[in-house]
Amino acid sequence: MGAGRIKVPRGTFDILGEQAEARSALEARARAILAPAGYERIETPVLESTELFARAVGESTDIVSKEMFTLQDGSARSLTLRPEGTAPICRAYVEHGMHKRRAPVKLWYLSSFFRSERAQAGRYRQFWQVGAEALGSDDPGLDAESIALLATLLSQVGVRAVRLRLSSLGSADSRAEYRARLQDYLREHEAALSSEVRSRIELNPLRAFDSDDRETQRVMQGAPRLLEHLSRQDAEHFAAVRALLDEASITYEVDSTLVRGLDYYTRTVFEFTSDALGAQSGVAGGGRYDGLVEALGGPPTPGVGWAAGVERMLLAGDGQPPPASSVELFIALADASGERSDGRSPAPAAATEGTRKAAFALLSAARSAGLVAQMELAGRSLKGQLGHANALRARYVAIVEDGETVLRDMQEGEQQRISTDTVVHTVLRGLRDL
Ligand code: HAM
Repeated sequence: MGAGRIKVPRGTFDILGEQAEARSALEARARAILAPAGYERIETPVLESTELFARAVGESTDIVSKEMFTLQDGSARSLTLRPEGTAPICRAYVEHGMHKRRAPVKLWYLSSFFRSERAQAGRYRQFWQVGAEALGSDDPGLDAESIALLATLLSQVGVRAVRLRLSSLGSADSRAEYRARLQDYLREHEAALSSEVRSRIELNPLRAFDSDDRETQRVMQGAPRLLEHLSRQDAEHFAAVRALLDEASITYEVDSTLVRGLDYYTRTVFEFTSDALGAQSGVAGGGRYDGLVEALGGPPTPGVGWAAGVERMLLAGDGQPPPASSVELFIALADASGERSDGRSPAPAAATEGTRKAAFALLSAARSAGLVAQMELAGRSLKGQLGHANALRARYVAIVEDGETVLRDMQEGEQQRISTDTVVHTVLRGLRDL
C-alpha cells in the first residue's frame, strides 16, 4: 500500500490558527447582533431529503440541476448535502409546529453548506454561511430590520466597499402575469439569445437577466421589467421597505435586473456585493419567501431572511485579527536538578513526579478561580519553558517545585518564593491591582 500524503479535496479547506480565531470572532459578532433582535440559534442536519431542495429552491435552478452533492441511503432514498439554509429552516418550522409560536419566529444559523461548483478564490465546494430567517409576518418593517441587521454585521466585520442592490419580485400573481409578458419578449428575440437562455424560456425566463452572454445582455436591456409591473399591494410593500431603509440611513440602489439563483423568492430581494472581492463579489443575499412554508406542507406563512458567506466576509474584511486572549498564568516545572529560574542548567533533568502533581493541582485551582492558565505539557527544559511563556505573553510564570513556587511577574520583572497554595490568590491580587 502506498504511503503518499493525502490532501484535502479540491474546493475544501482546513480551518486552523488565525482563521479559526477569526471565525469564532465573527460568530460572536453575529450572535451579539442577532440575539438582542430576538433571533434564536438553530442547527439543522447536514443531510436532507433531495426533494426538499428540488421543491424549495427549484428544479431549474443551477443549484438543484448542477450543484448538489446527492447520494442514496441504504433504502434507495435520495439524500443531499444541504446547498443552502432557508429550505431546511422552513422544513424545521413545519416539522416542529413553530407556527404556534408568537410571530415573528426568528432563527439564525452559522453552518456549512455544499455546492459542487468549480472552485476558485471565494468559491468553494464546502463553505460557511451566517444566516437569519424571520417567519410569520409580511410586515415591511421585518424586511427592513432584517436588511439593517445584515448591514450592521457587514460593517462590524469591516467588509470594505459594500454595495446594496434591492428589488422586488412581486407576489406569485404579479409574477405570473409578468412572466408571460417576458416570455413573449424572449420568444420575439429568440435568435439573439444564448442557447442556455433559450432553453429556459419556458421554465425560468427571469434568469435571462443573469446571463453572461453579450448578445443576450443587449436583448435584455430592452426587456420589460418586473418592477414596472408590480400589483398595487406589491408596489406599496416595496415602497414601505425602501422608506424604512431611508429612515435607517441605509444606502441602496434599486436594481430591476436583480435575480437571485433560488426560485422561492417573492417581493423583496437584495444582494450585498463588495468591490474588495474579485469575480465572486456577492458577499450576502436574501429576500422574502412568502410561499415557501406552504410549498413544504405547512400553513401559509410569510418569511424573510438572508445569508452571508463567512469566507467572503473574511476576504473582504479589514483583516483585523481578533485580540488574542492573553495567558495570565503559565505554570512551569522546575528541573529535578534544582535549577529554578536562570535557565543556565546545562542538561535539564525531568521534573519529579511530585512537582508534576503539584503543578497540575495548581492548574486546576487557577482555572477554577477563573484565571486564563496554561501549564507546561511538552517536556521542555526550564529555559525552554520560560521562552514558551514569553511567546505566550504570559503575565505571571509560576515555577513549581514540590511544596514551593517561584512566582515571576513578567511585566514588573519581580519574583518571589511563596507556598504553592498561595499562588492563585497572589496572581488574582496582582491582576486586580493593574
Ligand atoms: P445565496 O446567494 O445562494 O443565498 O448564498 C448566500 C451567500 O453565500 C453568498 O452571497 C456567498 O457569500 C455565499 N456563497 C454561496 N455559494 C458559495 C460558494 N460556493 N463558496 C463560498 N461562498 C458561497 C442563499 O443561500 C439563501 N439561502 C439566502 C437566503 C436566506 N435567502 C433568504 N434567506
